[in-house]
Amino acid sequence: MVMEWKNAIRVSKLKPDKPKMVNIGFKTLMLVLFNGEYHATEGLCRHMRWPLGLGGKVKDGCITCPLHQTTHKLDDGSLVEWSPFPLFPPYGKIIGKLSKKKDLPLYETRIEGDYVQVKL
Ligand code: FES
Repeated sequence: MVMEWKNAIRVSKLKPDKPKMVNIGFKTLMLVLFNGEYHATEGLCRHMRWPLGLGGKVKDGCITCPLHQTTHKLDDGSLVEWSPFPLFPPYGKIIGKLSKKKDLPLYETRIEGDYVQVKL
């Protein structure tokens, strides 16, 4: 498949450390401006597909899913913590096991005019 640059979001819509959910075709992405750089990742949490752009937290170069706190690094997508959320301990263990631990796919970004573009 040919990779193409696609407009993802207006530059002015991204505030530092505030993740946004962006749909391009059938794909859901998470875009965030962190440390002066634009990051684009797979938009659905690798654990149970919560959209990371909705309530995801950016801290120390990582994105944390609001649902069960699965955390990945923004610079290489590597897994830091898998579903540690301990609110209901027995349940928490079960949902941690429901899906295999995975890294977060990343996408290249660039600025073109008023837009952040991603290579898809
Ligand atoms: S859906 Fe994201 S941590 Fe469970």
